[in-house]
Amino acid sequence: MTEVTSTSTQAKETSAADAADSTATAARPSAGSGRGSRPLLEVRGVTKRFGGIQALSNVSLEVAPGETVGLIGPNGAGKTTLFDCVNGLMHPDAGTVIFDGQRIDGMPVYRRARLGIGRTFQKIELFAGATVREQLMVAEREKRGDGRLWKDLLWRGAPSPEEVDEVDQMVKSLGLEDVADTPAEAISLGQGRLVELGRALVQRPRLLLLDEPSSGLDSNETTALAAVLTVVRRDFGTAMLLVEHDLDMVAAAVTRVYVLDFGRMIASGPLDDVLSDDAVRAAYLGQAPLAPS
Ligand SMILES: Nc1ncnc2c1ncn2[C@@H]1O[C@H](COP(=O)(O)OP(=O)(O)OP(=O)(O)O)[C@@H](O)[C@H]1O
Ligand SMILES: [Mg+2]
Repeated sequence: MTEVTSTSTQAKETSAADAADSTATAARPSAGSGRGSRPLLEVRGVTKRFGGIQALSNVSLEVAPGETVGLIGPNGAGKTTLFDCVNGLMHPDAGTVIFDGQRIDGMPVYRRARLGIGRTFQKIELFAGATVREQLMVAEREKRGDGRLWKDLLWRGAPSPEEVDEVDQMVKSLGLEDVADTPAEAISLGQGRLVELGRALVQRPRLLLLDEPSSGLDSNETTALAAVLTVVRRDFGTAMLLVEHDLDMVAAAVTRVYVLDFGRMIASGPLDDVLSDDAVRAAYLGQAPLAPS
C-alpha cells in the first residue's frame, strides 16, 4: 500500500479538510524523524479567500522537527499564500496554525520569527550597496534585537567578535567566500538566493519556509543549492517546508510532499507515488512533464 492519497476519485463531496486530514495522517512521519511525536508545524483546515478567489480551502499539513517536506502544485495553487499564513504576513479566514504545540495564527510576523519560523521569498530583495557579508550581518544583528533600521544595525558600532564569527561561518557554509565582500548588485542570482537563505539561517530558525529557492537558477546553481540544504539539515537540524517547481530538486531534498491545486490539498506522500497519482497528473496537465529527469 502506498501512502499517496487523493481526493479525485471520492468525489468532491468529501470535504477538503477531511481529505487533507486523512492524507496528513497517512503521510505522518515516524516518531524517529524528530523530537518525540509532536509535529513542529501543524496547519489545520486553513482557508483564505481574496474576493472571489478561494486561494486556500481547508488546507492541513504537518512538518515534524528536523523534517524536510515538499509543497508542490501548479501556478496559483496557493503555495505562497499558505506560507504567508504560516509566517504571519497574512491571517487565515478560518483554521489554525500551531507551532511547537502553540497556536500562532493570531501572532504578528516578528513573534513567529522569534519562535523560530524563518522564510525565504519567491522574489529576492537584497539591500542595494551592501556586501554579502553586510547583508548577513544585518540579519545576525536583527536576531539580537539591537536595532530597528538596517542602516543602524550596520553602522551603529562595530560588530562583536561573536557576530563576525557567526557571519563568517555562514559565508563558509554557503560557499560564498569568493563574493563575501562584493556588493549585492554584482553577484549572480544563484549567489543572491544563497544570501537570502543565509539571512534566514543566521536567525537559527527551527522551521524554514523556502519559496521556490531554485527559481531562475541554472542547473549547476540548483545542484549547489540542494547540497546546501542537505548541509543545513545535517548541521542545524532545521525543519524545512520547500515550495519548488524543480522536481529534481524536490526529489533530492525531501522525504515526502504535499500537493496543492486550486487551494485544495489533493495528495500527499512520497514524491514518486504522488507523481503517478491521477489527480496530481490531471492538476499538472498542460504544464511541464511530471518526472524528475
Ligand atoms: N494578495 C492577493 N490578492 C488577491 N489575490 C491573490 C493575492 N495573493 C494571491 N492571490 C491569488 O491567490 C491564488 C493563489 O496564489 P499563490 O501566489 O498563493 O499561488 P502559488 O501556488 O504560490 O503560485 P506560483 O507557483 O505561481 O507562485 C492565485 O489565484 C493568486 O492570484
Ligand atoms: Mg508562489
